[in-house]
Amino acid sequence: MAGLLENKVAIVTGGGSGIGRATCLRFFQEGAKVVVVDRNLAGAEETCQLMEGTDQDSTAMSVDISKTGQVEKMVSDSVTMFGKLNVLVNGAAILIRTPSLAEVDELDWDLTMDTNIKGLFLCCKYAIPAMLASQGQSGSSSSNLGSIVNIASMSGIKGTAYSVPYAVSKAGVIHLSKVASAQYSSQGIRVNSISPGGVDTPQMRGSTASAETFQERNEGHPMGRVGTADEIANLITWLSSDQASYVSGINYIIDGGAWAAVE
Ligand SMILES: NC(=O)c1ccc[n+]([C@@H]2O[C@H](COP(=O)([O-])OP(=O)(O)OC[C@H]3O[C@@H](n4cnc5c(N)ncnc54)[C@H](O)[C@@H]3O)[C@@H](O)[C@H]2O)c1
Repeated sequence: MAGLLENKVAIVTGGGSGIGRATCLRFFQEGAKVVVVDRNLAGAEETCQLMEGTDQDSTAMSVDISKTGQVEKMVSDSVTMFGKLNVLVNGAAILIRTPSLAEVDELDWDLTMDTNIKGLFLCCKYAIPAMLASQGQSGSSSSNLGSIVNIASMSGIKGTAYSVPYAVSKAGVIHLSKVASAQYSSQGIRVNSISPGGVDTPQMRGSTASAETFQERNEGHPMGRVGTADEIANLITWLSSDQASYVSGINYIIDGGAWAAVE
């Protein structure tokens, strides 16, 4: 039986770790050709090895998404290698814990915006023309329509106290996705964002600072645990597939019911 992403070519940024890696592995299982992008090349290469495919199935690329030239090359190399581009998942991001707004270091603000907003914008900017050009390619017409999934966060919705720059950047990701949907859904490119709550990844374990705090996050959750990267990858896979052909411009909260349980 054909996989959900058969005949699709996908770029996944942040593919060297956490949610991005889980997404790459799931995409591969569903039949996509996967470009695993990360500034940590060793992590991206490890993800490719975990797929156990051939050179024709996936490739690892070392890219800093905040650098225009590198992003432009990422897209053109992907198209050269696999012939087209159908799916972009923007997962690469950084989380720097900061004090309250008046004490936020300007450098932390700039570093966060450079990756989480400018980098994501650049990936969309260069991927969209390649996706539009891919619509005339061989293969079934539906498999050549485009989908962009931008990973935002619950921090972009509620007043997360631990990082002003991160929270503002993620609110920007949600809005960028809506504007891009308004501009491109008429041309066959769907754009959605997802907002996970806590997910057990290297980023979260780093941001919670200690095993004790991590345990508290689990215990305070209505389901008694934070999410797994695989659970987030399931939603990203569905949104990237033709099963979601009428879904665009939406931000999906995926937090195991935590937001609904806030009194
Ligand atoms: N883990 C959570 O609890 C959680 C919750 C909500 C949202 N998110 C979001 O999900 C996404 C994935 O997070 P994760 O938890 O898997 O994080 P992670 O730290 O495990 O992975 C992020 C990856 O992005 C890469 N990266 C960072 N900056 C980059 C850059 N400039 N260029 C290229 N690659 C870069 C890192 O090297 C890393 O491999 C992020 O957008 C994150 O903000 C995570």
